[in-house]
Amino acid sequence: MAVDAVDFKALPKIELHAHLSGSISRQCLHEVWLKKKENGEILDGLQDPLVEMPLGKHDYDLKTFFPLFSSYIYHLVNDIWALRHTTLSVLRDFAADGVVYLELRTTPRTMPSAGLTKAQYVETILSAIAEFESQPNCPPLRTKLILSVDRRNSAEEAYEVLTLCRQFYGKGVVGLDLCGDPEKGPIDKFGPVFEEAKRTLPELGITLHFAEAEASGTEEELLTLLSWKPDRIGHVIHLSDKIREEIKRRGVMGLELCLSCNVHAGMICGGFESHHFGEWWKVEETIVVLSTDDVGVFGSPLSNEYALVAKHFGLTRADICSLVRRGIDVIFGGDEEKERLKGLIWTA
Ligand code: IMP
Ligand code: ZN
Repeated sequence: MAVDAVDFKALPKIELHAHLSGSISRQCLHEVWLKKKENGEILDGLQDPLVEMPLGKHDYDLKTFFPLFSSYIYHLVNDIWALRHTTLSVLRDFAADGVVYLELRTTPRTMPSAGLTKAQYVETILSAIAEFESQPNCPPLRTKLILSVDRRNSAEEAYEVLTLCRQFYGKGVVGLDLCGDPEKGPIDKFGPVFEEAKRTLPELGITLHFAEAEASGTEEELLTLLSWKPDRIGHVIHLSDKIREEIKRRGVMGLELCLSCNVHAGMICGGFESHHFGEWWKVEETIVVLSTDDVGVFGSPLSNEYALVAKHFGLTRADICSLVRRGIDVIFGGDEEKERLKGLIWTA
C-alpha cells in the first residue's frame, strides 16, 4: 500500500524522548505570560513568548537552545499554577497528535519564588498526569515520568534525582536520564549514581543522551556511558565504528532518534535524507524509536516525524506499523502497559 495512505495523526504512537519544558507550545507559554501580566506579577522584563520565540522559528542551535530554558522558560514556568497548566497542555497536545504512550522527562528543580521543593515539583507533574487521565472520555494517552540529571549538576544533585526516582518509583516515575548541554562535562562524576540506580533499583529504566555533539562523542565518554548499562540511548550521532559495533553487540537497546531536532539545530550535516535513522532502522540488534525531543522548540509533532521518515527513507505502511510496534519492547512502563499497547498499536 502507498505510504500516503497512512494517516500519521491517527496512527497510535509511542513517544519516549520528550523534555517537558521543551514540549510546551508557544501558545501555552503565551497564556502563562498573559495571566502573569494580568495578575501584576513581576516578569523581570520577560518578553511575550510569541515575540521571544516567534511562531515558525525553529532554527535554534546548541548555543541558543540551552539558554532558552535557564534564561527564559524557567522564569515563566515558576509556580505550581504554571507547572500544572503547562503540563496539562503538553499532555493534550501529545494526545491530539495520536500519541498513546508517552514517557515525559524533566529535570527536577526548585521554584524558590513559590517555595516549591524538587519533590513538590515532581508531585505537581504527577498529579497533573493523574488529573488528565481521570477526566471523562480521556483519550488513550498514558504518561510516565523520567527524571533527568543535567550535565551541569554536581554529583550531589544527581544523587538527589536518584532519591526522587526512589521516592516516586511505582507512583509514575519509571526512569532516570542524563541530559543537558553536551559541551558541559566531564560526566564521570555521575557514574556512581547511575551504577547505584542499576544496583539498588534495577526496575528503573536508564536512558542517556549519547553522542549528541562532537564534544560529547569521544570514545572515552561513550564507553563510560555504555558501562552504566543504559536501556536506551538518545540522539546517537557522533559514533566511531568501534562504538557502533559495541552498541550492536549489546543488543536490544532502544535508540531514541529525533530527526527534526537534529536537522533544525544543525547537529547533523545535510538534511533529513542524510539522518542516521537510515543507518539504524533496519538493524535487528537495536530498536529505533522516533521521538520529538522538544516539540515546543522544533515544531515537529511525532506524527510529522513518521511522515518524514516515510518520505525520506521510503518506509511502507507495514514498515511504519512495525517500527511503532517494536518500540513497545523498550518502554519503561511495565508489562501491563506493554500488553495494553499491543492491543492498540496497528499491525500493518
Ligand atoms: P526540563 O528538564 O523539563 O526542564 O526540560 C528542559 C531541559 O531539558 C533543558 O534544560 C535541557 O537540559 C534538557 N534538554 C532538552 N533538550 C535537550 C537535548 O536535545 N539535549 C540535551 N538536553 C536537552
Ligand atoms: Zn533530549
